[in-house]
Amino acid sequence: MPHRTGFRRVFAPLLASLLVAFGTGVQAGEVEVLHYWTSGGEAKSLAELKGMMAQRGHGWKDFAVVGGGGQNAMDVLKARVLAGNPPAAANIKGPAIQEWAALNALTSLDAMASFDRWDEVLPKVVADQMKHKGRYVAVPVNVHRVNWLWANAEVLRQAGVNEAPRNFDEFFKAADKVRAAGLIALAHGGQDWQDFTTFESVVLGVGGAKFYDAALVKLDAQALGGDTMRRSLETFRRLRGYVDAASPGRDWNASTDLVIKGKAGFQFMGDWAKGEFLAAGQQPGKDFRCFPAPGTAEAFTYNVDSFAMFQLKAWEAQKAQGYLAYLLMGQDFQERFNLRKGSIPVRQNVSMDKFDECAKVSAQDFGKTAKAGTLVPSVAHGMALAPGQQALMRRLVSDFWNNPQMSVNDAQKQLLALAAGPQKSPQ
Ligand code: GAL
Repeated sequence: MPHRTGFRRVFAPLLASLLVAFGTGVQAGEVEVLHYWTSGGEAKSLAELKGMMAQRGHGWKDFAVVGGGGQNAMDVLKARVLAGNPPAAANIKGPAIQEWAALNALTSLDAMASFDRWDEVLPKVVADQMKHKGRYVAVPVNVHRVNWLWANAEVLRQAGVNEAPRNFDEFFKAADKVRAAGLIALAHGGQDWQDFTTFESVVLGVGGAKFYDAALVKLDAQALGGDTMRRSLETFRRLRGYVDAASPGRDWNASTDLVIKGKAGFQFMGDWAKGEFLAAGQQPGKDFRCFPAPGTAEAFTYNVDSFAMFQLKAWEAQKAQGYLAYLLMGQDFQERFNLRKGSIPVRQNVSMDKFDECAKVSAQDFGKTAKAGTLVPSVAHGMALAPGQQALMRRLVSDFWNNPQMSVNDAQKQLLALAAGPQKSPQ
């Protein structure tokens, strides 16, 4: 029966989704989706998807794992797959997609992708990440920009900060003013992925896209051991002095909430943070500001959320998987989801008319930086390194953030040791 099984595995999702999409009365199924979108803005964005699945009669079984950045979710996913109980779909990104595909755990979406011409509407950098050995095994839903600095507009007015800080010297001057106004200068959640999210924006702001790529993506020894990395680590350490005592362990959205409520002036975070401002009914420009992280206006750190579909036996579940994949790449979903999530559509032919000024700048800069060669993958958010190495890098940088005894020299030595380690990701 191998032939039929192969046919079913490859074409089932496409066939099923078309039958359902065009309302042919084919019995719908249920998808169990593992994800880590539990913050206010994230949950509202996901509600769009659940609603659209329900409209077509598909059930949604939510398997949410708390923990921003997704590390907990990936650990739970591993345990479930090893136990032979994979979900229908999971939010898996970047090089991790290759690892799961290499285990033959994922179902091919190639028939759907060619039917719906994904290659024509996706940026190549994204399409390539969704493919394993040239075949689609995941669906992208957005492009998040990570190198943002969020600010409370009223706090800036009160503190006398009138300009977006264009470099870190200007940022520290602005932060001093916010602190002098008796407020938290920098709202930061002390978790390793958040520490690294800030660190990668510092490296980009101090060294530029080329240096970022050499140091954090290619783990080049000269870059990691050199003067620019030393200045980046020094700048990163100086930021430590501007966060509040309650920072360690705080969730990212609780830090965003401090900015929303005017208790803090700034936060370094990807534009999922914007989803929180919007969910709180705030407007860009009026209540909050979105600035490129200091020194990074000409660059763009991308983070693409995507869903991979696990191989399932049940025909019903395969149908629902197929429809989910079809829906995720649809224009309607791409607009509705990203309007709430804070990211921009990854599908290139979705109108940006309904999107706000931060999203419009993000979309323009995504195109501009791709042309200029200053579009770089987020390391903190799993776009560049193999998961094992990414985790080691995050932990090292977090140790440096939390341990004042660790000198810049120590940190550089450890970065070099890590880069030379056995785990170097395949380039
Ligand atoms: C990122 C993810 C975003 C957002 C963020 C905070 O890794 O790609 O969609 O959820 O974590 O949890």
